[in-house]
Amino acid sequence: MDPRKRVLLSGGCGYIGSHTLVELINAGYEVITIDNLSNSDLNSLKGVEKITGKNIIFEKIDTCDITSLRKIFEKYEFDSVIHFAAFKAVGESVEKPLDYYSNNLGSFINILKLMKEFNRPNVIFSSSATVYGNANDLPVTEATPRQPAESPYGNTKTIAEDILRDCCKAYKNLFGIALRYFNPIGAHPSGLIGELPKGVPNNLVPYITQTAAGIRECLSVFGNDYDTPDGSCLRDFIDVVDLAKAHVAALDRMIRKDMKAKYEIFNIGTGRPVSVLELIKTFEKVNDLKLPYKITGRRPGDIPALWADVSLANIELGWTAGRNLSETLQAAWKWEKNLRNI
Ligand code: WQD
Repeated sequence: MDPRKRVLLSGGCGYIGSHTLVELINAGYEVITIDNLSNSDLNSLKGVEKITGKNIIFEKIDTCDITSLRKIFEKYEFDSVIHFAAFKAVGESVEKPLDYYSNNLGSFINILKLMKEFNRPNVIFSSSATVYGNANDLPVTEATPRQPAESPYGNTKTIAEDILRDCCKAYKNLFGIALRYFNPIGAHPSGLIGELPKGVPNNLVPYITQTAAGIRECLSVFGNDYDTPDGSCLRDFIDVVDLAKAHVAALDRMIRKDMKAKYEIFNIGTGRPVSVLELIKTFEKVNDLKLPYKITGRRPGDIPALWADVSLANIELGWTAGRNLSETLQAAWKWEKNLRNI
């Protein structure tokens, strides 16, 4: 197989990684998936194999262990890497900053070191809209100044972007794209893969689906006294399948050598702000159910509103989020029901 069509996916068993794996296979890429399974499950690959009908090349690797990671670079020819492997719980990062800095930055530095050592040119980095902090001017564009991170997790994204930027500048044969995800939600329409949060979900949609499944008693809406149309926070909820397709579009751009700079950044969202209460009401309507929820106090660290200007990704990547909120929330509920055999 032509190494240009081969890609290494680190953290490929995770929520966004597994959905990206499906879309890469659908697009004709051959993928080597690595994951240390610290926050993911091999069953996600079984779901990917059912969806695609392909056997997945998987190696259990901790990207923080450069010796074992080097063996993957020695064993497989691939031109590109999509780096997902990272811890991602905002609250946990505040309690365990050293775990987050060493894991999230150490793993990425190892990937970049080996790409340089083995002369592998293309890397896509899983970044986050969290780098914008509490932006004043909305929607945010890629030129909107990043704000000091509100958590060590967010800071690892900011620092990793700068590491990638500096490496692309310094090393002739290294090209990087950072994709800043807004709020990834939903699941593959097949219901065979989806989000698998460990313990009590921090994020809104998995908490909603677990409440609908009776696993959680009642959803707390963290505040309805924000300066927004209905008082609840506004977010840019991006369907995980659309997000996965954005990675394929970015990789295609790199393979075609269409990049306009050695390091590029793209916002990956819908460009449409949706409130927490709107999302809840849509979930109830499309799934024909009543969700138990109550309004509680604000969650510390939450920002009132954040959504993307996605025109750069639309134009340069030829990518647009195609799924609407109803489809996304139906898929999220279908996944939860399959997971719980409801
Ligand atoms: C969304 C809205 C909550 C749970 C975080 C990270 C970001 C990215 C996505 C990793 C907020 C409200 C939530 C609940 C609620 N993660 N909410 N009740 O905080 O926008 O972003 O996840 O890359 O980096 O910062 O997402 O889903 O936690 O919250 O009312 O039980 O839902 O207050 O307004 P967030 P979220």
